Amino acid sequence: MSRAELRPESLVVAGGRQPPVPDAPLNPPIVLAAPFHHAPDDNRYLRHDGSDTIRAFEQALGALEGGTALAFSSGMAATAAIVEGQPAGAVAVVPSTAYSGSVAIFDAQQELGRMAVRPVDITDTAAVVAALPGAGLLWLESVTNPLLGVADLPVLIAAAHDAGALVVIDSTFTTPLLLRPLELGADVVMHSATKYLSGHSDLLMGALVMRSDELAETLRSRRGLTGAIPGALESYLALRGLRTLAVRMQRAQANALELAQRLAAHPAVTRVRFPGLPSDPGHERATRLHGGYGAMIAFELAGSAEDAERICESVRLITHATSLGGVESLIERRARYPIDAAHGAPPTLLRLSVGIEHVDDLWSDLAHALG
Ligand SMILES: Cc1ncc(COP(=O)(O)O)c(C=O)c1O
Repeated sequence: MSRAELRPESLVVAGGRQPPVPDAPLNPPIVLAAPFHHAPDDNRYLRHDGSDTIRAFEQALGALEGGTALAFSSGMAATAAIVEGQPAGAVAVVPSTAYSGSVAIFDAQQELGRMAVRPVDITDTAAVVAALPGAGLLWLESVTNPLLGVADLPVLIAAAHDAGALVVIDSTFTTPLLLRPLELGADVVMHSATKYLSGHSDLLMGALVMRSDELAETLRSRRGLTGAIPGALESYLALRGLRTLAVRMQRAQANALELAQRLAAHPAVTRVRFPGLPSDPGHERATRLHGGYGAMIAFELAGSAEDAERICESVRLITHATSLGGVESLIERRARYPIDAAHGAPPTLLRLSVGIEHVDDLWSDLAHALG
């Protein structure tokens, strides 16, 4: 059976391995070298070329997404390679509510006079299509952070291509197990590998996966110029984490669906945003386009921002911390950051990254804090 025939659940385990040579190690070694011995006609250096450790992660992710993957030192470094690589004067259509770092990097380009940014609600297909004429870049999140909106990707991708724009999907929340944006026609998939791909909250890494080899080469040389290559230990750990992505996602998603249903029935909760609930505005699209509803929940509370902060401080099993996608559940009030508040995060909205603990323990913790 060739690698191309494997399902994603098998590819996460089998991807990025060397052919079986007797005595060779099963796992890629952690290569700790910046220069490499010269061959007659090459000049290998870590910043430009990577290493076997980094390439192993890239091969596994590339096989999962169906393109050429490049690893970066963080999700933001991957984002910067795209955004800062646009020609001066480019027009970018971006989500009005998205991960705050992505919002900030586009705002910074606009402030420098390098880019014109058109923020739109990416769940409003007509609004995105109307903003596209003249755009060189459409930036989308597969599921928006932190409002969990779901965009109609096939329609938006086709409209952006008609307008001549490059389409990049931040698929951090969906992972290649739930969504493969290149199959839907996107040009680039972006991941914060810090999150689900590595899955243990112990490293910072990012990745881009390109449909075209030419664009992959342009971004590889950009990564080399800016030195945005990840470290060897991070790359090793990211691939090790990727091996269990399928089982982690399965468990975390089941937990999230159960918690979303229980939260929706709780008197202290005024709204639950989770695409797996039939009442959620993103439910139809997520059912049609995604292979699962993910493990991120956002919910709003009756009461004040201070009440919502108190809930974050009251949980005991769930951790009050930023970030997401690890085995442990994390909670955070996103409007604590002025940039998130300014970009539409409601004051009492709590973002919950559901981990793989026992669902009844998670619920006891939440119910006690809400009580
Ligand atoms: C959706 C999304 N994209 C990108 C990033 C940035 O990734 P990193 O923290 O790895 O730089 C994050 C981080 O929270 C994120 O949630």
